[in-house]
Amino acid sequence: MNPEINATSFDWWYFDAVSDSNSCAIVIVFYMSTDLGFPFVLPLSTLSVDIFATFEDGTLVFLPLNDAPLSAGSATVVTDGDGSSGIWDGTGFSWNGTSDLSQYTVTIDYPLLGISGTLVLNSVAPAHYPCGPNQAGENLEVSPHIGWANAIPDANAIADFTVLGRELQFTGPGYHDKNWGNQPFIQNVASWYWGHGRLGPYSLVWFDVLAANGSEYVSSYSAINGNIITASCTGIKVRPTGENSQYPPVITSGNPQGFHIELDLGSDGILEVNVTTNVVLADALLYTRWSGTMVGGVKGGSVYTGVALYEEFKFQE
Ligand SMILES: *[C@@H]1O[C@H](CO)[C@@H](O)[C@H](O)[C@H]1NC(C)=O
Ligand SMILES: *[C@@H]1O[C@H](CO)[C@@H](O)[C@H](O)[C@H]1NC(C)=O
Ligand SMILES: *[C@@H]1O[C@H](CO)[C@@H](O)[C@H](O)[C@H]1NC(C)=O
Ligand SMILES: *[C@@H]1O[C@H](CO)[C@@H](O)[C@H](O)[C@H]1NC(C)=O
Repeated sequence: MNPEINATSFDWWYFDAVSDSNSCAIVIVFYMSTDLGFPFVLPLSTLSVDIFATFEDGTLVFLPLNDAPLSAGSATVVTDGDGSSGIWDGTGFSWNGTSDLSQYTVTIDYPLLGISGTLVLNSVAPAHYPCGPNQAGENLEVSPHIGWANAIPDANAIADFTVLGRELQFTGPGYHDKNWGNQPFIQNVASWYWGHGRLGPYSLVWFDVLAANGSEYVSSYSAINGNIITASCTGIKVRPTGENSQYPPVITSGNPQGFHIELDLGSDGILEVNVTTNVVLADALLYTRWSGTMVGGVKGGSVYTGVALYEEFKFQE
């Protein structure tokens, strides 16, 4: 298939992992978008990749790479069952996934910049769409004009990289999803909160988007022992906490200290989680990504802890 790409549509494939014991994290994104479609990609690129590597001491290496700076580049994405594989020619970045979504591997081999290694994601939680499980007929939009498919909501990840000559090796929760849109991203989003993590036995994914016209859209996901408890586009509320907890956030809002999440587990009760930031994994004024700790549980029940990786976009004046 050779899908049409134009200047104002966007497509990205996203992979991450966060350490369950220290500050290490890795985020790798494959883009098929110009900066008119999605404003955070390299100017003059259509095919590009990003790597964000955070080391044990909290230092960050961020490298955006244009697939083919001076010529028409190429990328190939193929599917096998439910899984996909992709190669961005000229970057040394690729991924492959099994047809049953049990495992994805991202491979980087870019000797020029001293980046090499693999991120292996062994899934522990079933795939889902914004409003339900991975099945035919599901709504694919998390908010108007924003598509979302979450192939790996939670994984036991093994990161084993060398980045600019430094080792980055850790294990912890991992994740893979894909977003796309047929209009410019900022035309449809005023702000959004997204994140995922492992809280005791729970695999959690949250999405709380404020559309450009002021309507709020959400998606909530929780699983235990490989079984979905909730996969719904209702029943969750995510709000900033601590300093700078203004809602909705505007461009000039500072970074909040964390988030408060209430997630309806149906007959299992209401899961209440406090997320507290430890490390800033990316900061681009209109966009911030963090890792942090989670504390929470079903109201009135056991209290669990865990780690999370999460983000905020804010485009409102
Ligand atoms: C993906 O690629 C890695 C590295 O080349 C390989 O070890 C693995 O078997 C591949 N997995 C699939 C599903 O093709
Ligand atoms: C760009 O492509 C999208 C998706 O195919 C389509 O919906 C949109 O109308 C196109 N935009 C332009 C300006 O051609
Ligand atoms: C925003 O747009 C959506 C359709 O794209 C519509 O369903 C919703 O009612 C609108 N919200 C407001 C507050 O106008
Ligand atoms: C979350 O934080 C709020 C405000 O500090 C506190 O009242 C609540 O008890 C906390 N919940 C958990 C589960 O720690």
